[in-house]
Amino acid sequence: METERLIKIFYPPRGLLKVVSKSPLKSELTAVDEVSLKVNEGEVFGLLGPNGAGKTTLIKMLCTLIRPTSGRVLIGGVDILQEEDKAKRLIGLATADERNFYWRLTARENLEFFAALSNVPRARLKRAVSEALEQVGLTDAADNMFYSFSSGMKQKLGIARALLVNPRILFLDEPTRSLDPITALGVKQLIRKRFADDQGKTIFLSTHRLEEAEQLCDRIAIMDGGRVIFVGSVGELRKKVTQKDKYIVETKGLSDKWLAKAALRESLHDISLSNIDGNGSWRLEVKTREGDSVSKLLGEIVAGGGRVVSCYKEQCRLEDLFIDLVKGGRSN
Ligand SMILES: Nc1ncnc2c1ncn2[C@@H]1O[C@H](COP(=O)(O)OP(=O)(O)OP(=O)(O)O)[C@@H](O)[C@H]1O
Ligand SMILES: [Mg+2]
Repeated sequence: METERLIKIFYPPRGLLKVVSKSPLKSELTAVDEVSLKVNEGEVFGLLGPNGAGKTTLIKMLCTLIRPTSGRVLIGGVDILQEEDKAKRLIGLATADERNFYWRLTARENLEFFAALSNVPRARLKRAVSEALEQVGLTDAADNMFYSFSSGMKQKLGIARALLVNPRILFLDEPTRSLDPITALGVKQLIRKRFADDQGKTIFLSTHRLEEAEQLCDRIAIMDGGRVIFVGSVGELRKKVTQKDKYIVETKGLSDKWLAKAALRESLHDISLSNIDGNGSWRLEVKTREGDSVSKLLGEIVAGGGRVVSCYKEQCRLEDLFIDLVKGGRSN
């Protein structure tokens, strides 16, 4: 799948629409701004970004649900704007929104309805529905009413619906939203093992969880304000953003003079001091690029009459990487 300078601008309603529309837009809004992405065949690709970054809008454009303002999308070599019907046969979409199902129909009846809408041939329809239910582990609940389903089951039924056309590429908008950790794990295994590894499908999913993206995705893109600000593996993201390591040093017996001097040090940026117990124990947090300067600091603590109780390097949290990157992008 490939996108070329894909743009979506939402315009405020005009004329009569202004009266009937509930759109809060006062001026135009570029929700997706020149996005060019290449997703490889069989790849699990994750889309991340803060609320309002443009993830859902991008996914909807890729699935032909909304029309781009400009740009091109190719799926398996098919231009989705020029050959929409052909493209639709390659695409499955599951959103995190279960409102699209009929609450008073069973899971099976719901899928049969959507299979018919997707032009799944009559002769194959019942089997396609049973297979989709089986794939997501809902065979036993197939004849229960949709309203009796738990969030996890609804989410899985959404994925089953996306499988009805046996798509080559599966778009999943927040597939683990509001799922408990165990159900989420089941859904992740389904995506990674069954759909990607066993069936060779290409997966394009959005998520708010970097840990999840790290477990699941070969590569990710991070969006902010409609733009893609990073593309690569989570490992590459770590390398790009982790400029400084954080060391935590706990000490005892340091003089006030020493502590005041430490706070002013220029060679170590970002040193922060906190009193642990009001009893002469201090915690120093040091952010630095060079491990050497930490060993120098430890030497100075000892030379200043202090004692090093412990010293360890704190692994950068994935959320911090994400926040650094988004903030960095905004200050440019
Ligand atoms: N139909 C629409 N009309 C006007 N503005 C829209 C429309 N759909 C989305 N937007 C706006 O486009 C921007 C991107 O929204 P989008 O739903 O794509 O973000 P998102 O990254 O999916 O966010 P979230 O993480 O909250 O799901 C937002 O500012 C949103 O308000
Ligand atoms: Mg969204």
